Amino acid sequence: MITIDGPAGAGKSTAARLLAERLGYTLVPTGAMYRALALSVMRAGIPPRDGPELHAHLAPLTISVEAGHVYLNGEDVTEAVKSQEVARVTSEITTLAAVRGKVTPLQRQLAAEGAVVLEGRDTGTVVCPDAEVKFYLSATLEARARRRRAELSAVGATAPLDAITNELRARDVQDETRELAPLRRAPGAIEVDTSDLTADQVVERMAAAVDLHRRDAEPPVDGPPRANRLYTVMRILAVGLLRTLFRLESTGRENIPATGPALLVANHSSVLDPPLIGGAAGRQLTFLAKAELFEIPGFGGLIRRLNARPIRREGADPGALRTAMRALADGRALLIFPEGTRGDEGVLRPAKAGAGMLAVMSGAPVVPVYVRGSGRAWPRGQRLPRPTKVTVTFGEPLRFDGEHGGDRKQRYEIVSREMMEAIARLRDGITGGAHRPQPASYAGRSK
Ligand code: DC
Repeated sequence: MITIDGPAGAGKSTAARLLAERLGYTLVPTGAMYRALALSVMRAGIPPRDGPELHAHLAPLTISVEAGHVYLNGEDVTEAVKSQEVARVTSEITTLAAVRGKVTPLQRQLAAEGAVVLEGRDTGTVVCPDAEVKFYLSATLEARARRRRAELSAVGATAPLDAITNELRARDVQDETRELAPLRRAPGAIEVDTSDLTADQVVERMAAAVDLHRRDAEPPVDGPPRANRLYTVMRILAVGLLRTLFRLESTGRENIPATGPALLVANHSSVLDPPLIGGAAGRQLTFLAKAELFEIPGFGGLIRRLNARPIRREGADPGALRTAMRALADGRALLIFPEGTRGDEGVLRPAKAGAGMLAVMSGAPVVPVYVRGSGRAWPRGQRLPRPTKVTVTFGEPLRFDGEHGGDRKQRYEIVSREMMEAIARLRDGITGGAHRPQPASYAGRSK
């Protein structure tokens, strides 16, 4: 997944088209999708305002993209959406939640197929915050205005440079200050100032960055992924602090495979859980964290460097499964919390089916983890932690092979349940992994 964002006139659409062609990827011009929706609203004579009329109009609309062309209810509107009038209505309607709520999921669906270049204003920040390579194209206002004028004269239209400059400036303000999905540089995005570059030069730079990413992301031919030095240092500091504050102890570390993929599944009742488990584990872990955290200046960059990967928490996120599968395919030890959100100390809740799906699809050994005490030390809703003893127990790895016949969804649910049962056995002090008799319920509170 590649995303390209930036202001109007920075050269995104040309760069995106050329890059997609060069890589053999699918192009998703997100602005054109919004334009198609605007065209539909204009044709229906509906005012471009939020309201029941607009909602009723949006519900049955289909907008699709194929081979760089945009279709509105099956009609190719690629050319029709290029008019100034459509652009004007588009900029009005793209501020509406109902409109973004309609188009963003369509874009995510297209992106989930992989091998895509998405181009727009919010593709790296909102649509695909977990894209592998993100670009932010910028250019001076003067350079963008000159380009616009050349584009207009190519189609026989003229406009004074001043007027074009003013229009671009107004669109920048609109794009940057709107409440929903404002134009921002996504965390980790590579900025390319295109002011003095030709389209070919821009694409050359982008392709080089994609190449570099591919080389970095490729799992090494032999041995595990390289150790991350910042992680090593931070872990030593964190363990020191966690031992002092919470008398952190751990058992069963030997149950984590020393190399190769491993899926650690833990109960969750505190923000302390990731550092506690990361501190207690004998090898470096990879974490999943909500995408918004990566947008916090400074903090986002730090957690990324500490092996955190962004996922979206609201709605279906096909990207999350891909991110997790990728980490395991790279031979990493990935920590997930199958219950999804934090709960009370000692209470285990049912796992999300996605956790079972990940275990089955990856075939990775699944290490159950039970954290005791973190929900007392720093529960949800409490401002500061209180010093309380915390222990982390790693259980024997479980294996769930992919082939089982029958209903796949049911299989994922069963596996999700078995994970929580293994965690419950650790909570209840029953050792011996999956082979011991199972307690009647995992939903009860420990004594
Ligand atoms: O890039 P463009 O000119 O085709 O975009 C058309 C309009 O849609 C423009 O007003 C910006 C807006 N847009 C948006 O809000 N979010 C996107 N992801 C893409 C475009």
